[in-house]
Amino acid sequence: MPLRGKKLHVLEVGSFEGASTTWILDNLMDHAESTMTVIDTFEGGMEHQAAENAQKYNMSTLESRFRANVAKCEHVNKLRVMKARSDNALLALRQESAHFDFVYVDASHVAIDVLHDAVVCWRMLNVHGVMVFDDFRWKGYMEDCYNPHVAILGFLRCAAPEIETRETESQMWVTKVPNRIPATPNPDPALYYWEKDKNSALE
Ligand SMILES: C[S@@+](CC[C@H](N)C(=O)[O-])C[C@H]1O[C@@H](n2cnc3c(N)ncnc32)[C@H](O)[C@@H]1O
Repeated sequence: MPLRGKKLHVLEVGSFEGASTTWILDNLMDHAESTMTVIDTFEGGMEHQAAENAQKYNMSTLESRFRANVAKCEHVNKLRVMKARSDNALLALRQESAHFDFVYVDASHVAIDVLHDAVVCWRMLNVHGVMVFDDFRWKGYMEDCYNPHVAILGFLRCAAPEIETRETESQMWVTKVPNRIPATPNPDPALYYWEKDKNSALE
């Protein structure tokens, strides 16, 4: 959906220095009632905290760099910063009954964190809203369970009845559409449980 000029409630999970935050503030916050919420620990993800990277990314000044960058934006007064882990902050937003039109998921890249962020953000995304996952195919770690891909794929399978997807170079864009696949009750009770030897859940 075209976003510019519309009243939008935007959520960014993971802002780092604010490159994407400042772009959104400068380009998507024209409407007087638009708002933007960002969540970040400002401690970096696993990839930033690794000893060899902490210096490279200058982690000790991350939050002050973020705050200096967003302060230059015309619409900074529409920005709410939640300095917290995404799992806690997202649940707090749910408690507030928050809803969003555009969500950018780019915090922890550890699959189980991404899965949590995806599901809770999805619950707060309005129908016709858009959720973007950054680093869809990022493989910073050797093990699948530390990379976002498995989490995003698992989420997409679960949300299949109400999604339209588009993959760009490094991102997965997901639009929430009205549910178009109603659940069909299984007519045969004998099929309620899968035969273990054929369908082990962990295979
Ligand atoms: C890849 S960077 C975000 C980049 C930013 N979206 C951009 O495009 O410029 C990831 C950010 O997520 C934050 N982060 C990592 N794990 C987090 C968690 N569990 N909760 C909140 N923030 C987290 C890090 O501090 C880091 O600033």
